[in-house]
Formats: sequence, C-alpha cells, structure tokens
Amino acid sequence: MKISASIISANFCNLEKDFKEAKDAGIDWLHIDVMDGVFVSNITIGPMILPYCKKSTNLPLDVHLMIAHPENHIHNFVKAGANHISVHVENNPNILRTVQEIRELGVSPGIVLNPGTPLDVLEFLLPFVDMVLIMTVNPGFSGQKFIPEIVQKIKRTKNLITKNNYNTLIEVDGGINKDTIKTVVDAGADVIVAATAIFGHPLGITAGVNELRNSI
Ligand code: DX5
Ligand code: ZN
Repeated sequence: MKISASIISANFCNLEKDFKEAKDAGIDWLHIDVMDGVFVSNITIGPMILPYCKKSTNLPLDVHLMIAHPENHIHNFVKAGANHISVHVENNPNILRTVQEIRELGVSPGIVLNPGTPLDVLEFLLPFVDMVLIMTVNPGFSGQKFIPEIVQKIKRTKNLITKNNYNTLIEVDGGINKDTIKTVVDAGADVIVAATAIFGHPLGITAGVNELRNSI
C-alpha cells in the first residue's frame, strides 16, 4: 500500500522540512489538492507550487484537480512537474479526451469519483486510466469525517478491475486515519491519501505515518 500525503495540512512556512520528515517516515507520494472556489467552495493552490515541491523533494507529485474546466489547465500542471493527474468525472462531458490528453503529455491519468457518483461511469473509462480515486468525503476540505458507506464502492471497484484483468490502482481520499485505514485497504485500496493524519498529527509527522502503517 502506498501513502500519498496531502500537502494542504503541511506547514507552508517550511514545506521542505515537512516533506523531508514525511519522506524519511516512509510516504510514497505527495498529494496536491487543487481547489478553485467553483467546483468546490474552498480555494487552495495552483500549479506554481509544484516546481517548489520538485526542488524540495524527489517524491512523485500526485495532483488532484477539484476545479472547473480542468482540461484548460492540464498543460500547466504537466509543465510544472506533475507525475499523476486525477480529474473528476462529475463536471466534464469530455472526460475521456481530458484523460487522453494527460496520457499524451506523458503523465499518468486518474479519474476521481465523488461519494455520490455511481460506479457505472467506470465501465468505459477504466481501460484508459492508471488510477481511480474514490472520495470518502465530499471534496473541499481536509479534516472531514470518513463516510463508511463508501467502503462498498471500493470493494465493487476492486471487483470490476480484477474481473477485467486491469492493473488500475485504487486511491482512496478523505478522512483516512488510524481508525479507517484498515477497512479501506481490506476493501482494495492501493494508495491512501491523508492530510490531517500525517501533517496534523499531534505527535508529529513521523508518528502520524507510523500510526497509519501500524493500523493495517
Ligand atoms: C478533500 C481532499 C483531500 C483531503 C484529505 O477535498 O481531496 O485530499 O484534503 O484530508 P484529510 O486526510 O484530512 O481528510
Ligand atoms: Zn485529494
């Protein structure tokens, strides 16, 4: 299981220090939550942060776009150094085109499903993506409560992937902590995202990462 640590809960006065500690503790990717105040009500960061992340660490950058018209911004995120780019299926009638563009630009494409989005959207998209990101909170904010009903959705996605012999990764994002990580990993998650449980852990980043690993 890989851990993708969401930088939105890191210390923006000293990201380099937080990235180093998280990497030494054994995280695998950095998760970049991009929000535009339109697709979700919150506003976070844009592509300009990526080159600074690249300068501070060699961890792969896992970009999660929660923005209107992501197709207009893919190029900038690729240029800025993204390794994975995941786009929501809810607001994009030409989602396959966006996914293909990400691939053509040499980056690994993923699609993201909000908690309320049914799985049938996967049927014709799965062959084109490397990863499916399943939201276990409504997107927009870190620190929200995990929605347990979505565990079923992870299991069903895993079955669909196995049945078709795909190598698609399942990433799970939202409310992952020591109490919820085991259920999602048992259900089939290959990559888990955590912000609060890592960068907001009261005993520090290393303790947060160890606690997650020790809880599965
Ligand atoms: C939610 C974001 C998540 C979130 C994770 O919209 O996509 O990545 O920040 O935060 P925690 O781990 O605190 O739920
Ligand atoms: Zn995210």
